Amino acid sequence: MQKEINKIVLVGTGAVGSSYAFALLNQGIQGELVLIDVNKNKAEGDAMDLNHGLPFAPSHLKIRSGDYSECKNADIVVLTAGAPQKPGETRLDLAEKNTAIYKEIVGEIMESGFNGIFLVAANPVDILSYATWKFSGLPKERIIGSGTILDTARFRYMLGHYFNIDTRNIHAYIIGEHGDSELPVWSNSSIGVVPIKEWMAKNPQYKKEDLDDIFIHVRNAAYEIIEKKGATYYGIAMGLVRLTKAVLGDEHSVVTISTYLDGEYGHEDVFIGVPAVVTRNGIKTIIEMNLDDEEQEKFSHSVNTLKDIIKDLQL
Ligand code: NAD
Ligand code: LAC
Repeated sequence: MQKEINKIVLVGTGAVGSSYAFALLNQGIQGELVLIDVNKNKAEGDAMDLNHGLPFAPSHLKIRSGDYSECKNADIVVLTAGAPQKPGETRLDLAEKNTAIYKEIVGEIMESGFNGIFLVAANPVDILSYATWKFSGLPKERIIGSGTILDTARFRYMLGHYFNIDTRNIHAYIIGEHGDSELPVWSNSSIGVVPIKEWMAKNPQYKKEDLDDIFIHVRNAAYEIIEKKGATYYGIAMGLVRLTKAVLGDEHSVVTISTYLDGEYGHEDVFIGVPAVVTRNGIKTIIEMNLDDEEQEKFSHSVNTLKDIIKDLQL
């Protein structure tokens, strides 16, 4: 049988995975979607439930549950399997547990003959992206971690709210670890094309302390949501659909994702969140912004935080 143009395999149909599948269906992605989970009933039940929404969907998506042999001719394998944080846990607390799970999962996927693009979302996402690269043996460009895509979305949303400007016209990035050592790049943030610093100078009702506060809320957003409802999933699910579209549509979009540094920003041998150009072949180019001294120092600290963990895990 001839393969559909787009085939996505989703591994892990928990809160994040099933929200991603639901968002794919609602955003009109066409092709095939195969659901895999260690809990086979969950994957089967989700496939049934999602299929019952097809009459209301904007376009057709063939959805079924399956096994790892389905990865052979997949364009994208999305990894959302793994333990989530419990209230009070950091993302990095999950490193050992989820790396062990990834060794197994990525091994099975590669045994199928998979030769496409990995989208990694489980935490700690920068570490698991690195682990996926190591375990798969695929070129670094073909591993895309969700990195700080969600933190950047939170940042743009909160800044848009503060300045009363459409969030899509806020151009600002969170870079670094998707976690506690991340940082905002104020030096390269703008509203439309006007640098935020200039906007503030012209509109003195806006205060630097408020901006600092906004970043703290961005950094702590996951803790707050997990405390309130146990998990986060809608935001990241939509971020993953954004990445899926960027890949399948060969969009050459600039997105903050976790990718391998090979000298960029003065660092190497680490996966970490930076803006990059995403295409059908994966990551094309990392966008190197001119960071100011304080940002560069914080970024280096974030890199070293991740590198210490990679070293401990002996990846
Ligand atoms: P969940 O517990 O609801 O779902 C995890 C799923 O993985 C479960 O269905 C489980 O059965 C499955 N699973 C576990 N081990 C497996 C294996 N060996 N093979 C196949 N499936 C397996 O968790 P969740 O809330 O969906 O979160 C999933 C991951 O995503 C967590 O690591 C979480 O921290 C992370 N996350 C990342 C972001 C981000 O921005 N990158 C945002 C939210 C959550
Ligand atoms: C987030 C997850 C928990 O919502 O990483 O940021």
